[in-house]
Amino acid sequence: MATSFSIPEHTLDRDCTTLSRHVLQQLHSFSADAQDLSAIMNRIALAGKLIARRLSRAGLMADVLGFTGEINVQGESVKKMDVYANEVFISVFKQSGLVCRLASEEMENPYYIPENCPIGRYTLLYDPIDGSSNVDINLNVGSIFAIRQQQGDDLDGTASDLLQQNGRQQIAAGYILYGPSTLLVYSIGSGVHAFILDPSLGEFILAQENIQIPAHGPIYSTNEGNFWQWDEALRDYTRYVHRHEGYTSRYSGALVGDIHRILMQGGVFLYPGTVKNPEGKLRLLYETAPLAFLLEQAGGKASDGQTPLLDLVPSKLHQRTPLVIGSPEDVALVESFIQEHRRRAETKTEKV
Ligand code: AHG
Ligand code: MN
Ligand code: MN
Repeated sequence: MATSFSIPEHTLDRDCTTLSRHVLQQLHSFSADAQDLSAIMNRIALAGKLIARRLSRAGLMADVLGFTGEINVQGESVKKMDVYANEVFISVFKQSGLVCRLASEEMENPYYIPENCPIGRYTLLYDPIDGSSNVDINLNVGSIFAIRQQQGDDLDGTASDLLQQNGRQQIAAGYILYGPSTLLVYSIGSGVHAFILDPSLGEFILAQENIQIPAHGPIYSTNEGNFWQWDEALRDYTRYVHRHEGYTSRYSGALVGDIHRILMQGGVFLYPGTVKNPEGKLRLLYETAPLAFLLEQAGGKASDGQTPLLDLVPSKLHQRTPLVIGSPEDVALVESFIQEHRRRAETKTEKV
């Protein structure tokens, strides 16, 4: 007997828009390359689920929180969660036939999976736990990732091809934000899309498609404790926002959360060079370039203060770079302060 009962089509469709299906939809293809990219995103999602699961019970389990006692290649103290999350990404790509090399903040040299190399010539660049100072106090942290195609054979195992590419050669980039819900935001070069982990399904489900950053926003996000270590141009910009209405400061100490807020609400995130670290703190290949790729796809802008971030080519794997990123008008305003100071400095030198 026919029934008048029907399930609203859009509800089911929404619940079925998983990450791997979305990648295929975006690529309008079921080719082998499209399937590979979809499978890679699915593995990254699995890493996100494993990390989210561990974080959600961290305070109840032994050996999850705190430091390992090691210092990483960046000279930073390593947390147990850094090690766990780093290994999770390696583990999900072993025997996947998908990713041939992984390079992360926590490893001095890339990790090779030679058995994958004849098939999947992709490289995963990642920051397994971004904002790890937040881990022990149950505040938001994230993971950042980017996918690039390996250029050449890398026979000497130095990954030197990564030092010849700029950020425009990224195939995909994104982040996972471990907050009240676990959120995955990604782009494969056709817009920015957000997925929320539905714990009852164990799947990332599409939450928002084609996110656009506001052209201007109220937030400025920076560690103002470094004020006296910045160039005068950055200090002048900060004085400008202090003296004008409509600005508000937000800084969590974890880049992924701070950038996510700016993506949704508009504004600018700054991590400039300091007297101690003229190149700033953040790393190009697995922190700033993936975020720049993502924000440009959302209509935002990113630079090192002068040069578009995506034009920078690293000279070493763990290269650092200053970062100005966010709404196009706000990034342009910061850059105008930097340009003005440079112009004044040049005029001064000419006069001498
Ligand atoms: P990580 O935990 O991967 O080393 O990254 C921390 C980064 C970034 O998340 C954050 O924006 C910044 O460091 C905070 O640095 P300060 O404590 O110097 O503000
Ligand atoms: Mn980081
Ligand atoms: Mn990290």
